[in-house]
Amino acid sequence: MKKSNKYTVTAALPYANGPIHIGHLAGVYLPADVFVRYLRRKKIDVIFICGSDEHGAPIAIQAKKEKKTPQEIVNKYHYMIKDCFHDFGIQFDHYSRTSTKIHHEISTYFFEKLYEKKKIFEKTSEQYYDQEAKQFLADRYIYGTCPNCKNKEAYGDQCETCGSSLNPEDLIDPKSTISGSFPVLKKTRHWYFPLNQYQKFLEKWILIHHKKDWKVNVYGQAKSWLDQGLKPRAITRDLNWGIPVPKDTGKVLYVWFEAPIGYISATIEWAIQKKIDWKPYWKDKTTKLIQFIGKDNIVFHCIIFPVILKAYNSRYILPDKILANEFLHLENKKISTSKNWAVWVHEYLKDFPNQQDTLRYILIANMPEKKDNNFNWKDFQRKNNTELVAILGNFVNRSLTLIQKYNQGIVPYPNMLSIKDKKILNKIKNYPKYIGNLIESYQFRESLACLMDLARLGNKYLTEEEPWNKKKEKRVSTILYVSLQIVGMLAQLSEPFLPYTAKKLLNMLRLKTFLWNKIKNIEEILCPGHVLGKPKFLFRKITNESIEKQMKKLEKI
Ligand code: MF3
Ligand code: ZN
Repeated sequence: MKKSNKYTVTAALPYANGPIHIGHLAGVYLPADVFVRYLRRKKIDVIFICGSDEHGAPIAIQAKKEKKTPQEIVNKYHYMIKDCFHDFGIQFDHYSRTSTKIHHEISTYFFEKLYEKKKIFEKTSEQYYDQEAKQFLADRYIYGTCPNCKNKEAYGDQCETCGSSLNPEDLIDPKSTISGSFPVLKKTRHWYFPLNQYQKFLEKWILIHHKKDWKVNVYGQAKSWLDQGLKPRAITRDLNWGIPVPKDTGKVLYVWFEAPIGYISATIEWAIQKKIDWKPYWKDKTTKLIQFIGKDNIVFHCIIFPVILKAYNSRYILPDKILANEFLHLENKKISTSKNWAVWVHEYLKDFPNQQDTLRYILIANMPEKKDNNFNWKDFQRKNNTELVAILGNFVNRSLTLIQKYNQGIVPYPNMLSIKDKKILNKIKNYPKYIGNLIESYQFRESLACLMDLARLGNKYLTEEEPWNKKKEKRVSTILYVSLQIVGMLAQLSEPFLPYTAKKLLNMLRLKTFLWNKIKNIEEILCPGHVLGKPKFLFRKITNESIEKQMKKLEKI
């Protein structure tokens, strides 16, 4: 079989109802970005697609809160989010939004096709209605006590405390989010997707096909849905904000029906701009679709979106992997947008200018891959000062200043290599493979730890070999030559994790990036006689004051 050489990588479309915080980054966007940057370095044909999710109750509710129109809200946050990703180095090929004309057209087209093919059906039922606000209450428009964990603020679609998915009828003592009043039942007509008809198909695809190669949290949630037995699910809503249901007034497509189609419409929009064909990225059997999502999005990506693609039946590929992390907490408390308990990325970028990589480093090192994890400012400071500054930064800086001092910044010719030198030169050649394998198996924390091992190795070598020691005069060139090969390797391999640092380092070394797979074959990353640039510090120490400032900011909440 032909080996797959195309990847379509998507990251969950964030709701344009607020800015991005560190939980979003650690959960979805950073792992996706590391993965894609690595694939690009292998010269794999990959597209990285995302965009703002601009419909649904979350937007309308935020608009009410800010006394603005939904359109004003999405405009405000779409650009804010887009800039924030850009400034943080999340390098999408395309960042779109679901209010575009093309997305409206394509989602509407999907709906119409499913209707024509009789894949969806109409049904009238009784739903909760707010008589004061004159509105039906679905999803987040209704809240009440969760039947599972008794949390008093569970939404009509989900309980954020225990994570269970709910229907408005499940809530105990339901109330309207809009007016706080008690809802009444009223008849309404909607379009439904008979998910039950796809039970067998999904069981085969997930339980048989992907039992082994999906992450346990994703597989487990999908399986539990299948074990409970799938039921028809409404794909329209009685709302005035969203994509209108064709030939039906006052109703819109359910946001979870159309938003995932956004991955496709964003790809098409990108392809039109690039004047290339979008289809291979979604219809080529050998293309791998990899979706990075939040833990609360699992059912939509494992069940609903695949069923839409299957029912639409136009040769769409299904996701090869769906990756969700657990949650990142802040100072041991759950991150909460509504309680403003978060580190907002745009604020971080203002408070710590040009220090994207410090936050990238900490978030990857603490990534909640298998269980919830915690971010705290003290740990942020400690990791920056004792790892980035003291290990990686220090090793690079020592090597480069020594080379200025002893060899005018020119890579020296080595003399006789000792057994240890040879061992090290051989050992460092394995790192592209080590790190690459870990990234390919989505073990981002481990892969970063592996990169830091390489820096540690360099630091240890330099400290043990003491090129500054008078007695080692004859060895200086050789030691510095070996150290520089490690520095060169770090410059080559740090880019997926720490792109700003990698760029700085490559500039300092006056070095180009190599293809990831080729690095191991290169005899010398830095050749003798090569003139290096001026050394600069890669990282800055983070002071107690700046950490206290951040802690104070949190206390104010
Ligand atoms: N907006 C959703 C959230 O933030 C994610 C949407 S993902 C998509 O939870 F599949 F709908 F695009
Ligand atoms: Zn609950």
